[in-house]
Amino acid sequence: MLLSEIEILIIYYLLLFIYGFTMCGIIGIATTLTALGANLGTVLYCCLKNLEYRGYDSVGFAVITPDGRLVVRKCRGKIDDVREKLGFDRYCGVVGIGHTRWATHGPPTDVNAHPHTDCNMGIAVVHNGIIENYLELREELIERGHRFISETDTEVIPHLVEEFKRRGLPTYDAFKKAVSILRGTFAIAMIDVDEPDKIFFARYTSPLVIGFGKGTMFVSSDIPAFLEYTNRVLVLRDLEVGYVTSSSVVVEGISQSEDLDPVPPPSRVVEFRPRIRVVEWSLEAAKKGGYPHFMLKEIHEQPYAIFSTISGLGPEIDGVVELIRRADHVFIIGAGTSYHASLTGSYLLHELAGVFSQAIIASEAQWYLSKVSDRDVVIAVSQSGETIDTLVAVRVAKRCGAKVVAVSNVIDSAIPRESDIQVYTRAGPEIGVAATKTFTTQLVVFTYLALRLGKVLGTLPEDNYRDLLSKLRKVPEVVEYVIARCEPIARKLSREVASKRSAYFLGRWLGVPISMEGALKLKEIAYIHAEAYPAGESKHGPIALVEPGFPVFFTVLGGYDEEIIGGNIEEMRARGAWTIAICPRGSRVRRLPEVVIELPRLSPYVATIPYIVPYQLIAYYTATQRGFDPDKPRNLAKTVTVM
Ligand code: G6P
Repeated sequence: MLLSEIEILIIYYLLLFIYGFTMCGIIGIATTLTALGANLGTVLYCCLKNLEYRGYDSVGFAVITPDGRLVVRKCRGKIDDVREKLGFDRYCGVVGIGHTRWATHGPPTDVNAHPHTDCNMGIAVVHNGIIENYLELREELIERGHRFISETDTEVIPHLVEEFKRRGLPTYDAFKKAVSILRGTFAIAMIDVDEPDKIFFARYTSPLVIGFGKGTMFVSSDIPAFLEYTNRVLVLRDLEVGYVTSSSVVVEGISQSEDLDPVPPPSRVVEFRPRIRVVEWSLEAAKKGGYPHFMLKEIHEQPYAIFSTISGLGPEIDGVVELIRRADHVFIIGAGTSYHASLTGSYLLHELAGVFSQAIIASEAQWYLSKVSDRDVVIAVSQSGETIDTLVAVRVAKRCGAKVVAVSNVIDSAIPRESDIQVYTRAGPEIGVAATKTFTTQLVVFTYLALRLGKVLGTLPEDNYRDLLSKLRKVPEVVEYVIARCEPIARKLSREVASKRSAYFLGRWLGVPISMEGALKLKEIAYIHAEAYPAGESKHGPIALVEPGFPVFFTVLGGYDEEIIGGNIEEMRARGAWTIAICPRGSRVRRLPEVVIELPRLSPYVATIPYIVPYQLIAYYTATQRGFDPDKPRNLAKTVTVM
């Protein structure tokens, strides 16, 4: 683990408090047959469809049928692909729960899909979050005769409730007792055939809201799930538990307890009515969490995505270090933004570990990789894990015997599946076509990999290693600051950028791939021609295009680039270019450009991550200024599966 347990917990809870937990969506519906119950399965489908942006690895639901049976239907896949197979529309009833999963632990299989049940198939549970003490609980429950069938942490919940019921507690008390001994994060909805008109719920850290409809109550991770049925909502607070029926709600606060003795935890009834709010958002706005576009939401999610990725990196990185240590050649391949992460990774491996590697654009890689051998390593970077150019290159490399490492944001997608080692970023689903949080989390992976490699190979003295690691841990906080500081600047700058036809993005050394990513963002969503190249190249051609007012952005990370880029800024100014620099606070170059965006000074190896953020914001605001939808740029797709 990269962070100490205590550090992880402190930052984790802080960030979860700020951003909420964005993975997986849950829904519960308590209704009557005359309200929505006659079409319960169809309504569950609609609610889950509205939660699809939270994850789409698997989908499932459970209902109690009018004759009192529990039916559970679930499988791997996207909701529309499995709608027929699961037969949503065939089911009616007065209570039902559903789940859409973004796998972070355990592959997205049918068995791991939610809901999960107890031994007798009487209780079904959907859950968002992570139960940290599930292994101890699972062992104890197995000793007491419970049978587990999935690899998930969630499955302990129905068995715990079953266990407490066996020992004499009624369902609600058993549920409260079970919740009180869970550790970690959770939003839970549960149904039980013994209480066929209720949905039990509990929340700790992961979000959970109740919707008050006509003759129907909803319990969900997020408001969009049920917004077409009601806009009256109650946001639950930590350690609140309770149940809904079609016409009533009970909310209680409980405390946590330690043991498995069947004594329900002390609870107090919560007067929730004054907390009910009417939400005026449209369905689309609600899915975007109040942001006008997914891209802006995802830019703002970066501190949490980066934090999750840092804390989630584990032994697989040491596996990659071992492969690279023994390799003759290292290739890093990716397309679009993932190529820019690959190029940054190649610089970092060289700078921090003295390892030479070659970054190659995925669509060009197959010819190169057709000559690799079993002594070579290929790192394939793809947020979706499905880009065909990257996948084909991976297959070529594998055929030649090379070891392949996948860096992806989607568990069990094609590229990780076909690779020898999987390294996952934990950015959560990214909906905006222009990659933002998946890029910064890919940079986290490469920074950490280079640090570990440098330590193992001895190129990085222990003190430097520790210092850089502690700087990497501070990145979520720095990114948070950079977003807040740069948003007004980007908004203002965009008014001018919006009127330009072309722009250059220049950097040197590690600043080159960051400039390339900055140019790509502006080009792909604001439709302004943008070119990036190493600043030293201006005089070999590109400067011929510079006329008064031509925008030139400079990326200065604060290392070797800072020492030598001053002359490149001067030469552009001398031709009347409009120069803008992103540089560390107090930088020696800060007086040279017309516009300077000063950011916290970090090590340049770590600065790559926060220094891309102003470019993301400038591109975003320029696109909206020009009246374009940044989430759906013309001619582009999020996942490209044609060559
Ligand atoms: C498409 C997207 C880009 C992305 C590229 C590579 O072109 O529009 O944003 O960077 O594919 O995608 P991958 O999923 O392999 O990272």
